[in-house]
Amino acid sequence: MFRRRPDGRAATVAVTVEGREVLVPAGASAAAAVLLAGLHTIRATPVNGTPRAPYCMMGVCFDCLAEIDGEPNRQACMVPVRPGMQIRRQRGPRAIDAG
Ligand code: FES
Repeated sequence: MFRRRPDGRAATVAVTVEGREVLVPAGASAAAAVLLAGLHTIRATPVNGTPRAPYCMMGVCFDCLAEIDGEPNRQACMVPVRPGMQIRRQRGPRAIDAG
């Protein structure tokens, strides 16, 4: 899918994706980290469980919803990585905050 050209000068950030440490270019998004980790899905649709993965990478499709640092329903493509970030699959439907 996506391949990053090697750049030995680029700064990297270590994050954890589904329990696996991944080195990600500084300034990249959590969704990019998911793709660099080789995951093919990051969530499943709540209606029928269809697997989804980051698609638009610009905050439109919501297919990148993930749990980031323990907080579910984050749009991973809109969250820049930081050292030690924990990224996990989105479990279950997106909660709606009515209050
Ligand atoms: S990849 Fe589409 S909203 Fe994040």
